[in-house]
Amino acid sequence: MAQDKVLSVNHLAINFKTDNGILKAVRDISFDLNRGETLCIVGESGSGKSVTSKAIMGILANNAIIESGNIMYRGENLLEVSEDEFYKIRGHKIGMIFQDPLSSLNPIVRIGKQITEAMLINSDKLKLMYQDLISDDLIRYKNTLAKMNIEIANERQKLDTYIAEVKAKENPGAEEKAADKKAIQDKKAAFQEFEKKTRESYGKKAKELKAVLEETEKKARQQVKEYKEKVTAEHKARLVELERKLESASATEEDSVKKEIENEKLDYINKLKLTKAEAKRRAIEIMREVGIPDPERRFKQYPFEFSGGMRQRIVIAIALTASPEILICDEPTTALDVTIQAQILELINRIKAERNLSCIFITHDLGVVANMADRVAVMYAGKIVEYGTAEEIFYDPRHPYTWALLSSIPDVDSKEKLEAIPGTPPNMIYPPKGDAFAARSRYAMNIDYREQPPMFKVSDTHYAATWLLDPHAPKVEMPKIVSERIRNSLEEGRGDE
Ligand SMILES: Nc1ncnc2c1ncn2[C@@H]1O[C@H](COP(=O)(O)OP(=O)(O)OP(=O)(O)O)[C@@H](O)[C@H]1O
Ligand SMILES: [Mg+2]
Repeated sequence: MAQDKVLSVNHLAINFKTDNGILKAVRDISFDLNRGETLCIVGESGSGKSVTSKAIMGILANNAIIESGNIMYRGENLLEVSEDEFYKIRGHKIGMIFQDPLSSLNPIVRIGKQITEAMLINSDKLKLMYQDLISDDLIRYKNTLAKMNIEIANERQKLDTYIAEVKAKENPGAEEKAADKKAIQDKKAAFQEFEKKTRESYGKKAKELKAVLEETEKKARQQVKEYKEKVTAEHKARLVELERKLESASATEEDSVKKEIENEKLDYINKLKLTKAEAKRRAIEIMREVGIPDPERRFKQYPFEFSGGMRQRIVIAIALTASPEILICDEPTTALDVTIQAQILELINRIKAERNLSCIFITHDLGVVANMADRVAVMYAGKIVEYGTAEEIFYDPRHPYTWALLSSIPDVDSKEKLEAIPGTPPNMIYPPKGDAFAARSRYAMNIDYREQPPMFKVSDTHYAATWLLDPHAPKVEMPKIVSERIRNSLEEGRGDE
């Protein structure tokens, strides 16, 4: 059965400019997120998990350079959409929960205000209606301009890099110098030509789209005006009716009619804007949904009056106010102790199921993965080295790095000694050739130091980038500690039946 993809990351590569050189944080990764699933991304510190999630959220640091790839969401490449559209997606359709709840809450603002703030920014319902009506055409127009600017900026970046490389040459000969100068001049001219052409071709399209947008704006203004007039006319008619009712009301009926008039007035306001009272009602509902006891009282408190676990629930509540379609959780429980961690994981699982969210869950802890994942992507040194269903990763792992991670899960039952992964991750300014894990792997072969392994197919859903899967490779068994653990858990599973 074909899965319904909600998000698709293709050949994404992200570098950072640093004082010591270009750091290659994410190196050509691809994965899909299917509707309603939880995809766990697991890997050691520094493997590129957060950089990947930040790229999806559009919140990469300023020194980031997107070297290649795209992130497709609803037919748009998130790396190319305009700022406006991105803000909309980020706020509404993709929500994110970070590791440290304190840093995402403002310590001096009451919890209730922090939850309602995001809702009240969009409190003018007529304005929202207008924005919705013009949104598609506005986005098409803005994205065309954004794409033009990105294409030009990319070309300029190439030119700047070329010039910097030439200038960095040590003691070039006179002839070489002259040739370089000429080459730079040619490249500058080519860039200018490129910029002119690009502006021309996009400019034509943008002009057409702008005309369409202006037409849509005119219609939308009219529609909003008609809506407001209709609602107001209905309201006035109803008030006249109620006033008459009040005149002929008996003394005992009077209070209830007065109440009706009050309600009619409130209803009318609610049709035009989200009131503070309505926002509060919704906030309290969501606080209850995320398991905060006594939400009416808690609404008025400050972050410091909440425990770590409760704070994380608030952060989740804030993410939910926008009714996202995708939830990205980056180590949301790392700062919490074990029992609280289990409760938060349970909460995320429940909300995910109830709201049919698709979830990207980032962690360095395979124990957490076991509780959360439908599918797993294992990252090492900026690459996805293995991915598959949770069952495939836990019961049929193929990459030596996945073996190492599985060997290092603390196992309470078997009292087995943890096997720490020997060595340290590579320096990503000079990532190793070949399989980056080779230097730390006792299964490394010569080819691992020379050539990057391709993704070998294990099943339709399971792939691993290790030369051990090459038909020419010697047959290697996974470490005993891993195979025994798998055997134990399979037997335990049978015992339960
Ligand atoms: N703004 C930045 N400038 C330079 N290097 C960066 C920047 N942000 C991240 N990096 C580097 O990119 C690499 C990947 O970082 P990332 O934060 O994605 O790791 P991670 O897998 O999330 O690790 P952790 O488990 O510690 O959160 C690391 O080597 C990190 O030092
Ligand atoms: Mg991280």
